[in-house]
Amino acid sequence: MLNRMTRPTTATFPVGLIGAGAIGRMHAERCLRHDRVHLAAIADPTDAGRVFAESIDVPWFADYRALLQQPGLGGVIVATPNATHLSVGLDCIRRGLPLLMEKPITDKLTEGEQLCAAAEAAGVPLMVGHQRRNNPIIRRAKSLIEGGLLGRPVSVNAMATWLKPDSYFDVAWHREKGAGTVLINLIHDIDLLRHLLGEITEVQAMTSNAVRGFEVEDTAAVLLRFANGALGTVSVSDTAVAPWNWDLAAGEAAHYPQQPVNSHFLSGTEASLTLPRLDLWRYRGKRGWHEELTHEHAALHLGDPYFEQLRHFRAVAEGAEAPRCSGRDGLRTLAATLAVHESARTQAPVRLAA
Ligand SMILES: NC(=O)c1ccc[n+]([C@@H]2O[C@H](COP(=O)([O-])OP(=O)(O)OC[C@H]3O[C@@H](n4cnc5c(N)ncnc54)[C@H](O)[C@@H]3O)[C@@H](O)[C@H]2O)c1
Repeated sequence: MLNRMTRPTTATFPVGLIGAGAIGRMHAERCLRHDRVHLAAIADPTDAGRVFAESIDVPWFADYRALLQQPGLGGVIVATPNATHLSVGLDCIRRGLPLLMEKPITDKLTEGEQLCAAAEAAGVPLMVGHQRRNNPIIRRAKSLIEGGLLGRPVSVNAMATWLKPDSYFDVAWHREKGAGTVLINLIHDIDLLRHLLGEITEVQAMTSNAVRGFEVEDTAAVLLRFANGALGTVSVSDTAVAPWNWDLAAGEAAHYPQQPVNSHFLSGTEASLTLPRLDLWRYRGKRGWHEELTHEHAALHLGDPYFEQLRHFRAVAEGAEAPRCSGRDGLRTLAATLAVHESARTQAPVRLAA
């Protein structure tokens, strides 16, 4: 029995972490500072995983199934490669353990459906790690948009252009199908736009692997149609020297040096809004392109969305809150994201159910 798990569950929320790679360590680091969540165990088959767990004095398991056998766990964070999400997720559900599944929910729609159905049948809470939904900037933007500030949304332009270091691609699965910049990065922007503007009903896209030459794309250009009639464009590239992406602009994690730029531009019939800086542009008097536009800027207190996501995970696991990004939500985001690949392959628009 793990001594860290013997703490009373009313005072703390012991979570197991499966996968101690890049994002797993970010979750671990935040769990260690969290007063509502307690990191009870780590599973990762590698030596690096073991060394990491030992360095923070957390019990380690090579096989995640052994972690799942530990009594007292309140939930599990799954941060393993995409292709393992279904099998690991199903094992957590079989143990009745609430699940924070890193994005994408799975890398195939049929598998995502299987995971959601299993969680629903077992009554196990399942949420997907689209952490931006927990950012105070996004929560403010969503309430402004839902409050009608933009009027009818008409257009959105988003960028996710930056440079991943060559060493990122030393990890084999980062070069392989299912782990290109579309499924790794663009999926966050698609989720964000769905969260703010509603369902995506049509996708057209081009992808390219011209610079890195890997099996996966390094660049994509995407057109979106939303159920509310708005149209969008998104550019994504992990081989571009540029600051225009959410992570550098929003400063969600300290290892991305924050840049004073916007990455998302939303406009409607009454106003336009930029993210993450929350610049608001509208007419105070007469309307029209020859008239003066007013520019306002909201300076928010910053919040760490990964930290807030952990608080939310506990509340979801305990039935106190509905998931901000449920399994089904993560699955719809995956469908719109995979439509990018399909449209690029078929050179035709892909329609999605509203
Ligand atoms: N939310 C975000 O912003 C964000 C950021 C990065 C990655 N991710 C997602 O998190 C997941 C992991 O990505 P990463 O970049 O951390 O990958 P990574 O390769 O750095 O780490 C994955 C870890 O999982 C371990 N692992 C593999 N199989 C395992 C198993 N069966 N049991 C236990 N551990 C296992 C590996 O040893 C490795 O340490 C992916 O799904 C990725 O899409 C999310």
